[in-house]
This record gives sequence, structure tokens and C-alpha cells, in this order.
Amino acid sequence: MPNAIISGTGFFVPPNVVTNHELAERYGIDTTHEWILQRTGIEARRFVDEGVGPSDLALHAAEQALASAGIRARDLGMIVFATLSSEHCFPGAGVHLQKKLGLCDGPDAPFVPALDVRNQCSGFLYGLATASSMVQSGNVEHVLLVGAEVHSHALDLSTRGRTVATLFGDGAGAVVVSASSEDRGVRGWWLGADGRHADVLSQKLWDIRKAPFIPQNAEGVGQLQPEMMFAQMDGKLVFRHAVERMIGSLFTAYSKKGLTHDDIDLFFFHQANLRINQYVADQLGIPHDKLVSNIQRYGNTTAATIPIMLAEASASGRLKRGMKIAMVAFGSGFTWGSAVVDW
Ligand code: ACO
Repeated sequence: MPNAIISGTGFFVPPNVVTNHELAERYGIDTTHEWILQRTGIEARRFVDEGVGPSDLALHAAEQALASAGIRARDLGMIVFATLSSEHCFPGAGVHLQKKLGLCDGPDAPFVPALDVRNQCSGFLYGLATASSMVQSGNVEHVLLVGAEVHSHALDLSTRGRTVATLFGDGAGAVVVSASSEDRGVRGWWLGADGRHADVLSQKLWDIRKAPFIPQNAEGVGQLQPEMMFAQMDGKLVFRHAVERMIGSLFTAYSKKGLTHDDIDLFFFHQANLRINQYVADQLGIPHDKLVSNIQRYGNTTAATIPIMLAEASASGRLKRGMKIAMVAFGSGFTWGSAVVDW
């Protein structure tokens, strides 16, 4: 069985920086830089321009990841696209990225398959489990795994929506997962879900059990109330479960692989809240200098978070060949996961 190594990384964030101050000043949200910073660690996030979708962000990240893996898009056997903010209800963002990568062009178009993963903040780790399993099965040599989000166009950027709207930002990260005979790569992944809390963090644009699935007015025009249009969250409950599940998921990884955190060189925690991550690290005795963070600059970029961190840490030289890393994420569903990789 081949090993599944991460052979390339890439990321892209849109250039438009929106600071906490700007949320108050430009959007008129009743909030302050101090409130957001103290509660979450976020100082700024990126917002896309009108007309930009997640597959556009993903294209830049994917091109970088392919270049750093030293392969062409046509060498891919599969695309796995994790996002909660696909361009449309269906099809998912994967096929848009596939076309933008030129994989439908020319007489020898490879028509590489594209799979969509929708596990929110855990999407990258669910995608990594999928991609690495495909590679290890021997059926696929290279999988492009992307996490990309355009949150900004679906945030309630008003005081009414401030609890959620101040947390999220746009961006994309990508990795190439490749078959290798080298003794490194994805050593294990552990996923979990608790559907009892499916309503606690959700965006219910429609209810398909109802006819019509979106309320209509007398003229047949769809009518969406703000609580259906925008994500709703019980932040305190999410916080509590996030801490518990992230600790539990890391413990599972340690016990399955006979590791302690002394064996791990760097930790890549999902970036929903710096306080969650510092609390988890403190509970486990992980020194803070082993935590990679980017929430300060990008906010929560959901499925894009971990691959952006991998790409940045790799580009800066902080993440080096030979290191053992652990990743862990928790999010809407609830879903969670962890993975251990020898880089
Ligand atoms: N600015 C100013 N005041 C605010 C803001 C804001 N941005 N947001 C909320 N408040 C107010 C509230 O209205 C409330 O006021 P009230 O007491 O008058 O009613 C007060 O601040 C406290 O609000 P809480 O929601 O109780 O604040 P809390 O301390 O819980 O912090 C936070 C909120 C930061 C969202 C926190 O609960 C959290 O981080 N939760 C976890 C988020 C998370 O992990 N999400 C999962 C990933 S996302 C995914 O999967 C898609």
C-alpha cells in the first residue's frame, strides 16, 4: 500500500483587508476592536469583491499547490473540494474548479472527477481522510484537496448579526495528496460527528420538508426571513463542545499512535477562536509556541483554515520536512476530526 504524502501546498486570500475597526465604522456594526480581539483573537479578515466565488479563490491556491508538488492539473486523479459556501445550491464548487483548471479543455480533456465535501470547519480533515484513503487504495496517484470559503457575502453585516458576522473571513487553501513509497505522510485520521446538535450552528436557507421549501408571497416570490438567510449560532454551547471534542480527538490520535504531545513538532488547530485553542493547549500541556495560528489576520475561514496554515507555515520554513504534525478541527454538525502527518 503506498503512503499518502502531502506533496504540495498553496493558499490565496483576497487582498481586501477588513479590520475590526472597519466593521464598526464602515458597516455600522455596534461592536469594538477590543470586544472582538478579547473574545476571539481576531484583528482582521479578508473579504472578496463582488463576483468572486470560492472556486475562484481555490483556483489560485490550487495552482500554487500543483506547482509546489511539481505536477500538472492533468496529473490529478481526483479533486476534493471542501466548502460550506459553494457558488450555488448545486452543483457544488468542485466542478467549477475542475473547469477553471482546464480539465475539460482540448481533445484529450481528462475530465478529472470532482467530489464535494460539506463538513464545515471539519471539512479539510474529512477531505484529508477521503483523499489519503483514495491514494492508499492505489486507485489514484494524486488528489487535489481544497478548502475555500466566501463567507462575507452571506454574513449579516449589521448589529443584528454581530455575534456571527465578526468571526468569519474569506480564503482558500489547497494541498496535493500523492502516493509515495517514502516512509512519511498521513499516519492516521480520526473523525466524529454528533447530529444531536445539528441545529446549534446552522444556516437554513430553506426547509425542503415544506412545500414550498422557501416561503412565497402572493406573487410567488420567495421570502426569506433574516434568521433563515444567515447562519445562527449558540456560541457558548459551540465553545463548550469545541473544547471537549478537540481535546478528545487529540487524545484519540495520541492513544492510537502511541504519541504524547512531546512527539508533535507543530499543531494546526482549526481557527474559530484563539481562546478555544489556548484553552485546549493549556489543558493538554501543549506549549503555545507549538501552535500555528492565523485567526488574527484571517478570522475563521472554515474549511480553508488548516490548508492555509499548512501553506503559510511551509512557505515561511516553520513547517519542515521530517516534522510530525497534528491537526484538529471542530465545527457545525457537530463534526470534528484530527490527523497526524509526518511531513
Ligand atoms: N461585538 C460586541 N458585542 C457582541 C458581539 C460583537 N461582535 N457579539 C455578541 N455581542 C454581545 C451579545 O449581544 C451579548 O450581549 P448581551 O449580554 O447584552 O446579550 C454579549 O456580547 C455576550 O454575547 P455572547 O454570545 O454570550 O458572547 P461570548 O462570550 O459567548 O462570545 C463568541 C461569543 C466569541 C462567538 C463565542 O461564543 C465563541 O467563540 N463561540 C465558539 C464559536 C465557534 O467555535 N464556532 C464554530 C466554528 S464555525 C463553523 O463550523 C462554521
